[in-house]
Amino acid sequence: MAVILTLLMALSVTVAQGGDGPSNDSSFCTEFRECLQFDLVCKMDEYEVRHYSPTRWVSTDAEAYFMGVGAAMAFRRLYQYITGANTEGVQIGMTAPVLVKIPEKTKKWEPAMYTLSFLLPSDFQESPPVPTNDKLYFTDMPDMDVYVRSYGGWMLSVTSRLHANLLTKQLQKVQASYNDTYHYMVAYDSPLKLLNRHNEVWYVVEDDPVCVNVSEIQTEPPTPEPDSTLTPKPELDPTLTPTTKPELKPTLTTKPELEPTLTPTTKPELEPTLTPTTKPKLEPTLTPTTKAELEPTLTPTA
Ligand SMILES: *[C@@H]1O[C@H](CO)[C@@H](O)[C@H](O)[C@H]1NC(C)=O
Ligand SMILES: *[C@@H]1O[C@H](CO)[C@@H](O)[C@H](O)[C@H]1NC(C)=O
Ligand SMILES: *[C@@H]1O[C@H](CO)[C@@H](O)[C@H](O)[C@H]1NC(C)=O
Repeated sequence: MAVILTLLMALSVTVAQGGDGPSNDSSFCTEFRECLQFDLVCKMDEYEVRHYSPTRWVSTDAEAYFMGVGAAMAFRRLYQYITGANTEGVQIGMTAPVLVKIPEKTKKWEPAMYTLSFLLPSDFQESPPVPTNDKLYFTDMPDMDVYVRSYGGWMLSVTSRLHANLLTKQLQKVQASYNDTYHYMVAYDSPLKLLNRHNEVWYVVEDDPVCVNVSEIQTEPPTPEPDSTLTPKPELDPTLTPTTKPELKPTLTTKPELEPTLTPTTKPELEPTLTPTTKPKLEPTLTPTTKAELEPTLTPTA
């Protein structure tokens, strides 16, 4: 019921926002004339779900051991393209966000492939000028839903991995399915902006988006756990102390009464009986019998 309500609320928000393609009416779109437009599907405690309409981007790949190095290299190429490195020599405005596609499983000591993309402004969506650098290409982003986690500060590779991990943990808790082969690191601000910086991590939704607060789920698991701990107790009673059973039944078959009976009966009886019976008997019998028997038999024959 609560989920249906949030979905309905989300739908009314969706209608209110509307629109597709680049736009600038977003609270974290502060520096550039145009930003990527989206429809909010739902906003949960720990993440939100957004719908993006198809858009065209200019992209380039960078193979690097460290994401920062690869991203810097790719960023420079893309920046050259929008500032005139294209066959028409035109200036293409900077937009937000900048997308970095990051493979999920990067092997240690092997370079990973990072893909950086700039959103083409609405004027250039249909027929963008051809890049002079052949390492650049256009990407048509499909119609898609994404799971989003937002965070502030500078988008360092360490923090972006951290937030990606946190988002996947939350998505697993609510049993949301997403493409787990890659995620997007999403940057909205230039390095010159110092305050209220906004970054995001995206995972692309598979199947239907899941709109459930993690807090709703965490209240359910504790109930089956007490049951499983209770069942082994009756099984222990018959095997251990048959004399205590009738006395226990009226009160309750509980742990505190079993544990005290276990420790005194087993440990105290074994430890005292072992040490006196074995050691004292062996040592006295060995020394007199062997020495006495050997020495007399040896001397006569020699
Ligand atoms: C948003 O974009 C429109 C044109 O696309 C422009 O007129 C307007 O000034 C922009 N608003 C801001 C806050 O940049
Ligand atoms: C989930 O969390 C959001 C944000 O805190 C809240 O507005 C919403 O009411 C919650 N939904 C449910 C179903 O608990
Ligand atoms: C996940 O993404 C990868 C890389 O883009 C793609 O090859 C794969 O088909 C996707 N998986 C699913 C289940 O869509």
